[in-house]
Amino acid sequence: TQIQIGAARIDKAGHKHFMAKEIAEQPGVIGAALDHYLTDAGIAMPGLDFAECDRLVMVACGTASYACMVAKYWFEQLAGLPVDVDIASEFRYREPPLSPGSWSVFVSQSGETADTLAALRYTRDRVAKVVSVVNVATSSIARESDVALPILAGVEVSVASTKGFTCQLTVLALMALKAAVDRGRMDAGQLAAHLGHLRSLPGLMNHALLLSNDVARIAADLAEAQDILFLGRGPMYPLALEGALKLKEISYIHAEGYASGELKHGPIALIDQHVPVVVLAPRDALYEKTVSNMQEVMARHGKVLLISDAEGVEEAGGGVWRSLTLPRIEPWLAPVLYALPAQMLAYHTAIAKGTDVDQPRNLAKSVTVE
Ligand code: G6P
Repeated sequence: TQIQIGAARIDKAGHKHFMAKEIAEQPGVIGAALDHYLTDAGIAMPGLDFAECDRLVMVACGTASYACMVAKYWFEQLAGLPVDVDIASEFRYREPPLSPGSWSVFVSQSGETADTLAALRYTRDRVAKVVSVVNVATSSIARESDVALPILAGVEVSVASTKGFTCQLTVLALMALKAAVDRGRMDAGQLAAHLGHLRSLPGLMNHALLLSNDVARIAADLAEAQDILFLGRGPMYPLALEGALKLKEISYIHAEGYASGELKHGPIALIDQHVPVVVLAPRDALYEKTVSNMQEVMARHGKVLLISDAEGVEEAGGGVWRSLTLPRIEPWLAPVLYALPAQMLAYHTAIAKGTDVDQPRNLAKSVTVE
């Protein structure tokens, strides 16, 4: 099948679905986005001097809002810059007070989401700068921003966003590093080290893609479940939300993402041998905490699928139901890499259930009405 989008004719390039193609494209498009923004002079984002900004107000819908939630950890931890994150449909009607030194940031693959555009217009005369992070450079949101940063993912056809999400994260990571430099929080040596880690992403992603067959086997079992929980801590918490969203969007299995620490405040009541729990836990500073949450799940006969690195899988021991081993990555960038197994899990579970992967029922790629 080929589809015509503007002047471009897009096909599946040998893949069964656009979603599979778009998952596989991620190492390439992320490399291209890095090439675009990284010049000899550093991170090229004309018009953005974060020394002039005292707060970011980030607004988006769906998957893009989870990218904002990940970025909040980055801006706060790397750059010491306070960040509020809101979903656009709430933000626009709550009409929050905004300080004049704030910048608003709108993240949108399509650049046409009605709630996000309305939120942008609300901030227009209330903040110092309106910034957008978009895939479609000619979109309404891009046109109405002071600075529009393209994510350069190429056309995304599948309704469930995949490469759009990781390209959003890549551009947001670059913004956070630029903010750290502009605000005097990071010297040239530290920046070079962080950029080196970003540069390693495409290679690490290629490794993650090799897990496809393992993921498919696990997905065949997950497809039997009625409910699935996703747990993560720190920047992996928003990824737990994204993993659950992806799964419910295309497999129609009820899935919820939780911050690991919230497990005991409710969701643990759901755990029994029928509820698989996907634990997204690289071996980082928070790993021990997540492992203790995992043990609480296992003590209640919950089936844990642990997604971690070799060290993390080994330390978790034999009680987990299944595991997927990713290469080691700098902890702050783990959400970008771990997005891939989360996407593949949703994809293969949907295949096992026989749903329409690229065009899930009731969903639209671009939501231009309320
Ligand atoms: C729709 C799509 C989602 C997307 C959301 C926001 O619900 O199905 O995949 O995350 O809109 O879209 P945007 O284009 O603003 O990123």
